[in-house]
Amino acid sequence: MTAIDPAARAAELRALLEEANHRYHVLDAPTISDREYDLRFRELVDLETAHPELVTPDSPTQRVGAPVEGGFPPVRHDVPMLSLGNAFGHDELREFDARVRKGLGRGADGPSVTYVCELKIDGLAISLRYEGRRFVRGATRGDGTRGEDVTANLRTVRAIPMRLREDPPADALEVRGEVYMPRGAFAALNEQLERDGRPLYANARNTTAGTVRQKDPAVTAGRRLSVWTYQLVGANGLATHSESLDLLLRLGFPVNPVTRRMDGIDQVIAFTEEWAEARRDLDYETDGIVIKVDSLADQAALGFVSRAPRWAIAYKFPAEQVTTRLEDIDVYVGRTGAMTPVAHVTPVLVGGTTVRNATLHNIDEIRRKDLRVGDTVVLQRAGDVIPEVVAAVVEARDGSERIWEMPSQCPVCGTGALREEGEVVTRCPNPYCPAQRIGGLLHFSGRGGMDVDGLGGKIMMQLVDRELVREPADIFRLDVETLESLERLGRKSAENLHRSIQAARQRPMGRIVNSLGIRHVGEQTAIDLAAWLAGEVPRGEHETEADWSRRAADRLRDASVDELTAVSGIGPVVAQGIRRFFDDEHTRDTLHRLLDAGVSAEAPTPGTSTEPATGPLSGKTLVVTGTLPGMSRSDAEEAIRDAGGHPASSVSARTDYLVAGDKAGSKLTKAESLGIPVLDEDGLRALLEGRT
Ligand code: IVH
Repeated sequence: MTAIDPAARAAELRALLEEANHRYHVLDAPTISDREYDLRFRELVDLETAHPELVTPDSPTQRVGAPVEGGFPPVRHDVPMLSLGNAFGHDELREFDARVRKGLGRGADGPSVTYVCELKIDGLAISLRYEGRRFVRGATRGDGTRGEDVTANLRTVRAIPMRLREDPPADALEVRGEVYMPRGAFAALNEQLERDGRPLYANARNTTAGTVRQKDPAVTAGRRLSVWTYQLVGANGLATHSESLDLLLRLGFPVNPVTRRMDGIDQVIAFTEEWAEARRDLDYETDGIVIKVDSLADQAALGFVSRAPRWAIAYKFPAEQVTTRLEDIDVYVGRTGAMTPVAHVTPVLVGGTTVRNATLHNIDEIRRKDLRVGDTVVLQRAGDVIPEVVAAVVEARDGSERIWEMPSQCPVCGTGALREEGEVVTRCPNPYCPAQRIGGLLHFSGRGGMDVDGLGGKIMMQLVDRELVREPADIFRLDVETLESLERLGRKSAENLHRSIQAARQRPMGRIVNSLGIRHVGEQTAIDLAAWLAGEVPRGEHETEADWSRRAADRLRDASVDELTAVSGIGPVVAQGIRRFFDDEHTRDTLHRLLDAGVSAEAPTPGTSTEPATGPLSGKTLVVTGTLPGMSRSDAEEAIRDAGGHPASSVSARTDYLVAGDKAGSKLTKAESLGIPVLDEDGLRALLEGRT
């Protein structure tokens, strides 16, 4: 018998396993059983263990690497990962088509546009980089320009090819797509958690996001994530998007089979109707249809508006509604003392998420909808919007339902609750209420603030209860031993949390200012203040970030109301809020104490000042208020900023436009009284695109 050459056999096994992956994930036509796959995999592991020199970086056995130490390194997306505008309903799709035709110089009667329709996968956007044929880096979208390097975790996703099947058209290639957890895998995971008596996950998308950011790739590997790719970045020499999808397939990427070229918007609409129902039979969650202009030349001609392409749109499937029972209403006290009623409902699956709670906003809303405890209610959830109780099913009442009253005292500290004239919100007026303190600290450590990964409500409550944390600066003095002494925090988690706290010591000035929770100062005002500080306190040639931060903090603490009101975007109410914060003996040194604890701001580069932005809204100040139908307030503000304009939070004589959506309140009244032009979302889009 001739001895088998280990090198040849290893190569053969690698090819066989990769081919099996491709057939399973890309072609949906498996040719070997799971058992056969596992046997061959074992054989390769044994061979590579006996002959370590045979291991190649793209061997299927190398998909599960060692746990990641520290945080995930940042990745810059040279070509930003954009978002898409939304279309709710078919009228908005026709409006999109009209905009595209106009942009391409085709009149209403001109030839129709060829579109590609794809399912909008409800997962997590990722970018995959290949050099030569080899997979070298996988990253999350992050904020679109900066994501996280999650290569080790994405390697474990078997649908992602570690080697391309053909030579790529360029030396380096970037492919984008959506990683997701199949419904079957999600259900199996929750069944396992249930058997272990552990809390269940609410939905597949959040579980996917958490899984992609796991420190230990072995955990990710066990979660059976998959991927659909839909974009080839910088595809040279191709004429259409459909050709780039074909190329992706040839290179070995999974491309969703529910992808169709459509001639004109009527065909697109028929496709959305077909898939609104058919999608329920798929083994993954989808929340809409993405419609893209097929011709790449036409895409280039149409270009972008702010952070979204003009040549594509996301049609959102109609909101799903279900009925359930309103079991009780509780009051939550936030960091400003606002007492918000929250509905507890019998858990119910809506739009792929198990919903247990839904906000009821305020007592007026409860009265207007005449909701009673014990009612059967209609619950709605659209996309990633917070679930909402739409109405009570009055016919289902049997008389046992109870009318709910707002408690007259704060449920946390017992102080008498107040509701001021003309306000809809009931508040706990006690600034030392523990709920406000915890709310404030969570705001501080949350996403728009210092973004301390892993410091959530349960841990914060223990830290405050045990008086380990009284104010933000205390967080930076916690050591691993103290963290480990908390309930449900083992050594490893304590070390991880400690590491994220250290990583949060340096943040941009805007984020630090926002994290302080100054009344009326939100993300945008904090960015305005930081820009003002960068101009007011130029950084010295050899000055450290810590020294600059201190001088900037001094300047902010001492700024007068007049000086603050002169800052672009800041009105008298906000200015007074800031002054009050720095006049109150309890809060005036919060920022300085943070710096004492070793926090510093990323300082501006010495010698630079903030340049005036250019774009269609250059020099214009806009205020966005109310709910816009197709974009969130922060998206609208970001778009305004990208177009060179200035989004402000309060209306004043210096406001150029008010953009008002549904439920716009006092800002609208004020703008009208000042004679400031009021726009709706379409008006804003027209301005952003320079159409007026
Ligand atoms: S294309 C410039 N195609 O939807 C166009 N996106 O709301 C970039 N998504 O961030 C996106 N399925 O995470 C595209 N077939 C699909 C998609 C898709 C899901 C996600 C993606 C994107 C978000 C935009």
